[in-house]
Amino acid sequence: MKHLEHLFANNRRWTRKVEEERPGFFQQLASQQAPEYLWVGCSDSRVPANEIVGLLPGELFVHRNVANIIVHSDLNALSVLQYAVEILRVRHVIVCGHYGCGGIRAAMEDKRHGLIDNWLCHIKDIYRYHADRINALPSDTERCDLLCELNVIEQVKNIAQTTVIRDARLRGQQVTVHGWVYSIHNGLLKDLEICVDTGD
Ligand code: CO
Repeated sequence: MKHLEHLFANNRRWTRKVEEERPGFFQQLASQQAPEYLWVGCSDSRVPANEIVGLLPGELFVHRNVANIIVHSDLNALSVLQYAVEILRVRHVIVCGHYGCGGIRAAMEDKRHGLIDNWLCHIKDIYRYHADRINALPSDTERCDLLCELNVIEQVKNIAQTTVIRDARLRGQQVTVHGWVYSIHNGLLKDLEICVDTGD
C-alpha cells in the first residue's frame, strides 16, 4: 500500500471507460478548457463537485476550502475567481454549501480546535449577525443547517463585492453568482434563490 497502487489501478480503469464512451476525450481536453461554471464548495469528501452536477472534466472550474468561504484577503480564492472570470470567462459562479458541514458545526461550538479556529472565525461572525434567528430554532441540527444557508448567502455577497465581479460589471461582462446548498442525506441540491447578476 506504500505507493497507493489501487488508486493508480482505479485511474487506468477510469481512463479506459471514458475513452470507450468518448473516443479522443483526453486529447481534445488537453488542448483547452472552456468551463462555463466556477464552483466554490466545501472540502468535505462527501461533496464532490463534478459528480453532483453530472459534469465532465473540463466543464467545471473548482475552488474548495473548509466551509466554502470567500474571504476578501484570501489571495488563493481571489486568484481562482479572477482567472475564472477574466480568462476562462465563466458565465456562472456557484457557491455550494452543504447541510451538516463540519466546519459550520465546529464554528458553532464553544471549544478550541486549533489553527482552524482562525478560519472558522469568519463563520462565527455570521453566527453573531444572526444569533437571535439561529438560537430560536429547537435543535442543533436545525441551527447548523440554517447557519449553512446563511453562510452561503454571505459568501455570495462577498463574491459580488470583489473587485473581480465589480470589474466584470463595469465591462458589461455577464456573470451570475448563485447560492446553493447540498444535502448529504439525499444528494439533492437546493437553490437558495439569491442570485447576484452583473447585468442587474
Ligand atoms: Co463542509
